Amino acid sequence: TQRPRVLSGIQPTAGSFHLGNYLGAVRQWVALQETHDAFYMVVDLHAITVPQDPKELRASTRLAAAQLLAAGLDPERCTLFVQSHVPEHAQLGWVMNCLTGFGEASRMTQFKDKAAKQGTANTTVGLFTYPVLQIADILLYQADAVPVGEDQRQHIELTRDLAERFNARYGRTFTVPAPYILKETARIYDLQDPTVKMSKSASSPKGLVNLLDEPKSSAKKIKSAVTDTDTEIRYDPEAKPGVSNLLTIYSTLTGDAVAGLEQKYAGKGYGALKTDLADVVTEWVTPFRARTQEYLDDPETLDSLLAKGAEKARAVAAETLAEAYDKVGF
Ligand code: ADP
Ligand code: NA
Repeated sequence: TQRPRVLSGIQPTAGSFHLGNYLGAVRQWVALQETHDAFYMVVDLHAITVPQDPKELRASTRLAAAQLLAAGLDPERCTLFVQSHVPEHAQLGWVMNCLTGFGEASRMTQFKDKAAKQGTANTTVGLFTYPVLQIADILLYQADAVPVGEDQRQHIELTRDLAERFNARYGRTFTVPAPYILKETARIYDLQDPTVKMSKSASSPKGLVNLLDEPKSSAKKIKSAVTDTDTEIRYDPEAKPGVSNLLTIYSTLTGDAVAGLEQKYAGKGYGALKTDLADVVTEWVTPFRARTQEYLDDPETLDSLLAKGAEKARAVAAETLAEAYDKVGF
């Protein structure tokens, strides 16, 4: 019996992934490679929907791959590749563009949000059709499920609609993927403003823990995290967002249950929790940084892993594309 197939992607970002990216996404990818036929990609095609410096984009793509490997993705257990290395994404993307209604695409709330932020003059057609390329990304691999956060649900619904539309028009071609909403997934908040999520673009430097920062600097940020004027260490995201965020980070990094942590710190101050959490984070990021650096110091190995990943991915993608093109009349 075949394992169910999953597909997920992450954008190459300048600099490093942050704690939210790891605890909210990448950590689940590592777990899923044991139970699923997992395809993971660095989505550099998606990255150019906003302006990119070519040299930086190339470096960020490598850096993203190095971090994914350092975080525990194993090329023997999953297929890890770079999106632009598999030309079938753009090829199927065009077909999907021609099947997607303009109105349908216009209803995507992520586009509306991002376009509002960019301003009309800086909004590209690529940003608009980004979810349509995402449809091709998923359907090319006949993915059974797509592990995503709640914010991606609308895009997965659109993917399902388009898979069904294509299948109805041309005959069964694509697996209709189920969303695999990562409900259990930790949502990590800004250390300085624990009511908003930790984010590369929106968090202040002190609120953001980048995985490749000096551990000392990250420890300092944890120790100066905003909490509240109460003293009780209790998980209560509504009333105590700062302390709850620290407990979430602690619990997801160590596997210790939150209830157990509440007991462990009963009667102790916030300082004790912060000091211990700073140690927990340091213990995790120290080997992670070293492993990432090893991949960066050995670009030949990294490139060859990615080339092998692209080859594995292409074998699947090319077969799907050939069938789809044939059905369309190409
Ligand atoms: P950012 O919001 O910092 O730009 P991305 O949007 O590139 O990060 O997110 C990459 C992945 O990391 C996505 O799967 C996203 O859901 C997850 N992610 C990002 N920030 C957080 C967070 N603060 N908590 C949990 N998951 C997060
Ligand atoms: Na995001």
